[in-house]
Amino acid sequence: MEPRSGRRRFLARPWVSRREIDDDSGDPLRVALPARRPGPKRVILLEDLTWQLSDWQLGGGKRVSWGFPIFVNLQGVPVVVIGAGAVAERKVSALLEAGARVTVVAPDATPAIDSWAADGRLALKRRRYEAGDLRGARLAYAATGDDEVNRGVRLEALREGAWLNAVDQPDLCDFISPAVVRRGDLTLAISTNGRAPGLAKRIREQLEGHFHEEYGAVVEQAAAERDRLRAGPSATAGGASADPATAVEGAGSSLPAAGRQGRVFLVGAGPGDIDLITVKGLKLLQAADVVVYDALVDKRVLECCRRGACLHYVGKRDKRHTKPQAEINELLIQEARAGRLVVRLKGGDPFIFGRGGEEAEALAAAGVAFEVVPGVSAGIGVPAYAGIPLTHRDFTSELVFVTGHECGNGRQPVDWKRYAAGSASIVIFMGLHSLPEVARQLLAHGRDPECPVAVIENGTTAEQRTLVAPLARVAEQVSAAGVQPPALVVIGEVVRLRDKIAWRREQQGSLVEGAI
Ligand SMILES: C[S@@+](CC[C@H](N)C(=O)[O-])C[C@H]1O[C@@H](n2cnc3c(N)ncnc32)[C@H](O)[C@@H]1O
Repeated sequence: MEPRSGRRRFLARPWVSRREIDDDSGDPLRVALPARRPGPKRVILLEDLTWQLSDWQLGGGKRVSWGFPIFVNLQGVPVVVIGAGAVAERKVSALLEAGARVTVVAPDATPAIDSWAADGRLALKRRRYEAGDLRGARLAYAATGDDEVNRGVRLEALREGAWLNAVDQPDLCDFISPAVVRRGDLTLAISTNGRAPGLAKRIREQLEGHFHEEYGAVVEQAAAERDRLRAGPSATAGGASADPATAVEGAGSSLPAAGRQGRVFLVGAGPGDIDLITVKGLKLLQAADVVVYDALVDKRVLECCRRGACLHYVGKRDKRHTKPQAEINELLIQEARAGRLVVRLKGGDPFIFGRGGEEAEALAAAGVAFEVVPGVSAGIGVPAYAGIPLTHRDFTSELVFVTGHECGNGRQPVDWKRYAAGSASIVIFMGLHSLPEVARQLLAHGRDPECPVAVIENGTTAEQRTLVAPLARVAEQVSAAGVQPPALVVIGEVVRLRDKIAWRREQQGSLVEGAI
């Protein structure tokens, strides 16, 4: 609508700038603007307002600020969302979670919004927005992607006294959504005033690492403690800690170490590919005060540690142990007793041939709290990356994990006779040096000399190489090829499937595929 000259005087002051801006929630926005017009109240004619809004966009001057943070109780509060696409769905989902009484107006809706409507969780008006739809609303969202409609909604929101968030149009917004971390009753909201949503997202991810799930329980405990203190001394007599912070066992390095009990997390880092660490393992790594790691842990994983974390290398490779196990146990115990969150990062899974059991025993004996975060064992991950399914209905329904370490030194804990007779897939950890002896045992007890064996060096990493040979000749071929640790040995008919399903390109190197 063309502005009428008589009304121009209302618009003498520029209200806002035309900066690039975004919504901190991650929903993209394009251009910044609004500031509430100061001055005496007046009756606003719709034509004025339409004109005035477009003038805002053209003006320069004051920077917009959504700088006043509040947390609002939306339980039972009427909220209207105009539009029902993907962005609207995210808004609606959060509103429903907050207990708002939601009405959605849109001719078409996403399947999720449709199903919430079908379940009676919200009211859905399947039509375009009409003036009057915001009647009674306290909060409104315009998520139509249609500038004209959104501006109509803006006008009605002003008339109704409802606060509006218009997706992608900050010039129409009364409020924007922050990036949020939730841990039970703990809510952390991050805003860059919409100026750097990417940064807000990164900060949120960092906070998620620091304030992991336990913080929900921490708030509960702190609240319970507060209630007890309020109820008077008799209620606290014989109770637990008077300081809620001491309940935060290992809950994150952002709390002061003094007065807090430490905790050790025995975390599996996965077999080599750094992306194979679990989400929980990664979060703990980002939060840890101290990280104690092994030789098989890829150093790039350690880049995820927070700045200031103390890293201890206690690696062992073959017979070259840098630190005796007893000293490693003692280090974990001392760091935890100093109130620190300790991550003991081990290759693969901590409880598979990783001495994780021994460390857990030592921690338990010392009365130090600990948790185990399983990892993808080399026994699982390495054959998978080599295209070998360890079980297959056509070949075997048995799988054994064994260590080759004990075989060469007189002890014989593995029942080779039993495995020679069956069709089990045999996965051997640390089996490179003992391979000639293992092959000899299996052949002596009747395993087929043509049974295929895969020896996978540096599995799951960019340097992965695989040698396949028949059981009778594998030891000599491994020796000729100069296979180096870490290497995993897989024995069984399932190895043949590699011909069909090896899905990963490997390094061209000295390893030759033997005939099987
Ligand atoms: C001390 S064990 C630790 C196993 C670990 N806890 C796990 O669950 O994978 C080390 C052995 O695991 C196997 N291994 C570990 N990482 C490997 C890799 N990337 N490629 C091949 N074998 C690997 C090798 O047999 C190596 O000698």
